[in-house]
Amino acid sequence: MKKSKYEGVYTDGRGYYTKTTYRESVYGEKIIHEGKWFYRHWPPSRSKLSAAMHLGLKNFPFKNSRVLYLGAATGTTLSHVSDIADLVWGIEISPISMHSLIHLAEKRNNIIPILEDARYPEKYAIFVKHPDVIYQDVSQRDQVQIFIRNMKFYNPKYGFLMLKTRTIDMRKKPKDVLKDSRKVLEDHFKISEIINISKYQNDHYAIVVIP
Ligand SMILES: C[S@@+](CC[C@H](N)C(=O)[O-])C[C@H]1O[C@@H](n2cnc3c(N)ncnc32)[C@H](O)[C@@H]1O
Repeated sequence: MKKSKYEGVYTDGRGYYTKTTYRESVYGEKIIHEGKWFYRHWPPSRSKLSAAMHLGLKNFPFKNSRVLYLGAATGTTLSHVSDIADLVWGIEISPISMHSLIHLAEKRNNIIPILEDARYPEKYAIFVKHPDVIYQDVSQRDQVQIFIRNMKFYNPKYGFLMLKTRTIDMRKKPKDVLKDSRKVLEDHFKISEIINISKYQNDHYAIVVIP
C-alpha cells in the first residue's frame, strides 16, 4: 500500500484506502492487513467524498483536522474521515441511523455522535468547538440554506457540500439546480471547486467552498 496524493489516504494503484488500527469492517468494505495496520477500502460507489477523489478533487484538508459532519447516517463516509482526522462530530437526525453511529463511536476514540437537526447549528454548539472543516451530506430540499447557516455559525476554513439536486427540485435539470445553488453560495463564499460526481452518485455535485 502506498501513500496517495491525498494526505492520510493510501492506494494500491486502483482504489483508495484509509489506515486504521481497528480490525473490523464498518460496512462490509474490504480490509487489507499489513503489519500492525489495517487498510480499509473506500469505494466511490459508497461514498461521495471518495467519488469526488476518484474524479480529481483538489482540496483535501482532513488530515490533523476537526470535522463537523452533517448527515452522518450510519457512518460509512464518516468512518473513513475518522481514520484521517483528529476529531469528527457527527450530526444525524434519524434515531435509527444514530444507533449504528453510536456503536461505531464506542469502538473509536475520535467520534462524537449527536442526534440533532442540522438546521439548528446553535443546538449542538455546546459540543462542537472550532471545526476546521464542515462536510455536509444532507438529503433535504433546504440543504444549501442548512450549509450556509452552519458555515456562518462555525466559520471553518473549508466547507464541503454534497449537493443532491433531485431533493432540491425534481422537475429541474441537475445542472440548473447547480446553477441556482451556486449563485446562492457565491453570495457568501468563494467557490474553490465543483465536481460532477454523477458517474458514481446520480445527480450529485461535490462543492468545496472557502469562507
Ligand atoms: C445521504 S445520507 C448520508 C450518507 C453519509 N454521509 C455517508 O456518506 O455515509 C443523508 C443523511 O442525512 C440525514 N439527514 C437528513 N436531514 C437531516 C437534518 N436536517 N439534520 C441532520 N441529518 C439529516 C438523513 O437521516 C441521512 O442519514
